[in-house]
Amino acid sequence: MSSQPLILGIETSCDETAVGIVRGRTLLANVISSSVEEHARFGGVVPEIASRAHLEAMPFVLQQALREAKVALRDIDAIGVTAGPGLIGALLVGTSAAEGLALALDKPIYGVNHLSAHLAVDALDESRSLQPAIGLLVSGGHSSIIEVTDLAKGVRVLGATIDDAAGEAFDKIARLLELDFPGGPAIDRLAKSGDLEAIDFPRGLQSSDYNFSFSGLKTAVSRYLKQAPSAVKADVAASFQEAVVDVLLTKAIRACTEKGIESLLIAGGVAANSRLRAEAQRRCDLAKIELRTPPAALCTDNGAMVAALTSLAVSGGVSPSSIGFSTLSTVPLDQPTWA
Ligand code: KG4
Ligand code: ZN
Repeated sequence: MSSQPLILGIETSCDETAVGIVRGRTLLANVISSSVEEHARFGGVVPEIASRAHLEAMPFVLQQALREAKVALRDIDAIGVTAGPGLIGALLVGTSAAEGLALALDKPIYGVNHLSAHLAVDALDESRSLQPAIGLLVSGGHSSIIEVTDLAKGVRVLGATIDDAAGEAFDKIARLLELDFPGGPAIDRLAKSGDLEAIDFPRGLQSSDYNFSFSGLKTAVSRYLKQAPSAVKADVAASFQEAVVDVLLTKAIRACTEKGIESLLIAGGVAANSRLRAEAQRRCDLAKIELRTPPAALCTDNGAMVAALTSLAVSGGVSPSSIGFSTLSTVPLDQPTWA
């Protein structure tokens, strides 16, 4: 029997009902039930539908995760749950389930920051040491450059988007191109058959800081489509995607160089993007920077990332949360867990 703590992680911040189980830094189970198809006809996530779907899915997802990990509930040493940021009604389903389990099992509970959890999934690659990294966190709600030294204690935000997040830009452009929701994976697929140099879309905010801006790019794509209604959609998708990838990587790699940090960690839903991953590898090889990207399935929302951050908190001696901790729709990135 391993002496490493067995951690259950619950994630319900948006449209994925997810439970992950880890022992120390070893992933044992990662089960996800998505309500994405129920939202697709509305072109975005409907909070009420998401909450109801979480309520329905939670018992099954939990049982399946325990089966996959081959553990019993009584073996769990600590429970982690996303406490924000996210849709409040959706978060409350996860935190209620987690608090019920913590009370019944008499185990500690950690209310965790979804954003830190995206980065913490990197810890599940046991072949790596947890050395400092520059984090590029790119999701539906956030695009930030972060100095990561100890995820359980906090991070330093170097820059962030001043308007749309990268994932939000993918979703909005997908809508303009009449693609499926969510837009990121749809653009990723379509762009594979397009020419990424076909249209020279603007690279927003080429300033010397670490901030991003994607609203100008969105306007440029919209204007282009109005002027050239018969444009090849795959070329528009590929050229748009290239503009996003270019600005994200230019600033992230510059942060590594300027801060003298030799590791780049890319996390969050947009980190699943195949072009971002390939181009990041090429640029990191050139700059002699180690690239750390979780497997694509662990980039989008999942419970394993919550369990991973909780595991780092437990092993780092962080105090658990008290029952009744707050769920928050917005949370600063530098607060990994809260009381
Ligand atoms: O991290 P995530 O699953 O949820 C949030 O915390 O927001 O990120 C979701 C975002 C969506 O905007 C989605 O379109 C985008 O990640 N995304 C992608 C890809 N897969 C998901 N964007 C680009 N390429 C992908 N393959
Ligand atoms: Zn997320």
